[in-house]
Amino acid sequence: MNLNIILIFFIYFFCFTLLVKSQGPFPYNTTEGCSIFGNNATFVKNSQFPPYNSVSITSGTCQASHPEYSQKACCYTYQTNGLKTFIQSNETLFGQCPGCLANVWSLWCGSICSPFQQSFMVPTETITQTLQVVKIDFILHPDFAQGLYESCSSIKTENGKTFSSLYSDKQSFFNGVFSDNPQYKINFVFNTTGYNSDITPCSGPEKTTTSSTDSTSSAQSKHSIQYIFYALALFSVILIIGF
Ligand SMILES: *[C@@H]1O[C@H](CO)[C@@H](O)[C@H](O)[C@H]1NC(C)=O
Ligand SMILES: *[C@@H]1O[C@H](CO)[C@@H](O)[C@H](O)[C@H]1NC(C)=O
Ligand SMILES: *[C@@H]1O[C@H](CO)[C@@H](O)[C@H](O)[C@H]1NC(C)=O
Ligand SMILES: *[C@@H]1O[C@H](CO)[C@@H](O)[C@H](O)[C@H]1NC(C)=O
Repeated sequence: MNLNIILIFFIYFFCFTLLVKSQGPFPYNTTEGCSIFGNNATFVKNSQFPPYNSVSITSGTCQASHPEYSQKACCYTYQTNGLKTFIQSNETLFGQCPGCLANVWSLWCGSICSPFQQSFMVPTETITQTLQVVKIDFILHPDFAQGLYESCSSIKTENGKTFSSLYSDKQSFFNGVFSDNPQYKINFVFNTTGYNSDITPCSGPEKTTTSSTDSTSSAQSKHSIQYIFYALALFSVILIIGF
């Protein structure tokens, strides 16, 4: 009987370890905290504060990539309203690959709403009198950055050139396409401590890369491992109660 209990705990911890590992990038940083307060579309203040609870996220914005932000986030509704306008202005461009568009949403939603904002949105230049943020380091996990770059690489810009022909790697792509923001200049930094999230492959008319396929299957296996974990946890609780 004792052996059974030991065995159950062993299985339990083994599955727990598996679960944590299968979460891959998560949690990139479990320290909650916000680093920028968005006054309006052009003014963002350098400010450290805890995330808000029960945030009303504008519909059709961050729910797809981050439904959990409605429970806790560093953004207010007016910011997700602004984000909607901002992304919609380039929706036809990024929407050539639905996966690319989804990843762009995840990128911007994370930057303004993630409750772990201060771990990857780091103001580097601030106006002393007003505390207005002028420059920011946006730290991205290299896997997320690479996945987003690949999912957008076959998109054709107005001059008919693809993103991959204009930008040979993620560094030039991010700094070329996303660094000029109406609120502040962004310097993209790639580090495993940075923002991370699931990547949706391009799945447009163009070919999808092997690594994009890999990330889909790993996302699927992540979910199935999660269910096995829940089932085993339930099973062991039942057994322990039984003893
Ligand atoms: C944005 O907020 C700043 C600081 O509160 C203010 O000075 C500025 O006038 C505002 N801009 C707009 C367009 O509301
Ligand atoms: C739209 O994409 C272009 C690059 O193709 C970029 O220069 C511009 O800042 C983007 N605008 C928005 C709102 O994302
Ligand atoms: C998480 O981010 C916070 C805030 O930037 C930082 O102080 C802390 O050291 C980070 N923790 C880890 C484990 O990276
Ligand atoms: C990534 O960030 C950590 C923590 O800030 C730092 O110690 C490390 O040197 C960084 N790695 C790279 C490659 O910049």
